[in-house]
Amino acid sequence: MLSRRDTLLTSLKTAFGLAIGASSPLGTLLTSPAAASDRPRSADWAIPFGAAIRDWPFQNEPAYRSALIAHCRQIVGEGGLKWADIRPTRESFVFDQPDRHMAFARQNGMEMRGHTLVWYGAMPEWTKTIGSSTEAERELVGHIETVMGRYRGRIKSWDVINEPIPDDPASRSDIRPSIWQQRMGEAHIALALRTAARIDPQAQLVMNEYDIEYVGDRFRRKREAFLRLIRDLKLRNTPLHAIGLQGHLRGEVAIDRDGLSAFIAEIRSMGLDVLVTELDVIDNKLPGPPDLRDAMAAARAYDFLQAIQTVARPKAILTWGITDKYTWVPLWFKRTDGLANRPLPFDEAYQPKLLMRVIEHFAKDPR
Ligand code: G3I
Repeated sequence: MLSRRDTLLTSLKTAFGLAIGASSPLGTLLTSPAAASDRPRSADWAIPFGAAIRDWPFQNEPAYRSALIAHCRQIVGEGGLKWADIRPTRESFVFDQPDRHMAFARQNGMEMRGHTLVWYGAMPEWTKTIGSSTEAERELVGHIETVMGRYRGRIKSWDVINEPIPDDPASRSDIRPSIWQQRMGEAHIALALRTAARIDPQAQLVMNEYDIEYVGDRFRRKREAFLRLIRDLKLRNTPLHAIGLQGHLRGEVAIDRDGLSAFIAEIRSMGLDVLVTELDVIDNKLPGPPDLRDAMAAARAYDFLQAIQTVARPKAILTWGITDKYTWVPLWFKRTDGLANRPLPFDEAYQPKLLMRVIEHFAKDPR
């Protein structure tokens, strides 16, 4: 009779062709029985762990706040600092949500990251009326001055630029369409970074992207286009301090470990740091049984974090939510079998999953 461990490892092999040795670090992580140490206390981890917070449960569910306090040294608003949340009209700035998140972070000795100042997504309707490059420049600079000015010295790391590269770049010079790209061209990126550096010279300025980590031509071309943009910005001494790898991992797609490590090595060669900013595992194409699915998700995250850490220690690892109970994944990747998605480190009952063990493995005392 196969042990539970061997059943799991055999299923991973059968389902995903993943040959994981029972005594390998990953094999041990995935199969060692749950122990008291599973109550992860990230306070003393070498790499800070954190999570994106969703405002409704943050305000209405004590268990949600307790989980954040117990496990996170950093938080970031899943929303709240996006244009759609802050700028309902051209004249107004609404800071209620980020202010309460900031107060919570301060009360609990946490850092709060800023997400995000320049993004094609979550833009209020009125920005579609921005009709010229002069008007676009005035609005973008004014927004960064006001938002970063308010949290100067309190938000120490900002996703200034989010998702600048299209999903399937036609060429290395391809930039994702947005009102800013439309009105100012690629120059809007350097303008935003220079403005951010002027408003808060101490802040870590980050450019954040996804789909950088996979095997496949499209993803290789996305890495190359992203590297072209980063090199050009550095060549012109544009203030940029780190690259954020979102890490929304597609459970069914293999990580290009060599491609990702080479990407990180190039980033490091330009003196830039690396952060993991939105880690979760999109599991709509993974098999149903939760323990097999969780093991597969954890194995993907292991490959991803190992490929990064082979070259550089991330400055932080944040997941895009803390519990499977509140996640964006079903918004776009709902399972067809009616089962709930399980993308995050804690399950719906706030119990740690194998994914949290893998994060702990890489964050606690990175090799
Ligand atoms: O708050 C309104 C609510 O009042 C309204 O009733 C409801 C129905 O339309 O919408 C609610 O707003 C939603 C908001 O999330 C808050 O939950 C928006 O429609 C919805 O579009 C928004 O989705 C967020 C999305 O970014 C767009 O801002 C997701 O929660 C959030 O997880 C997702 O996060 C992005 C990162 O910023 C960048 N990287 C990818 C990541 C996942 O897509």
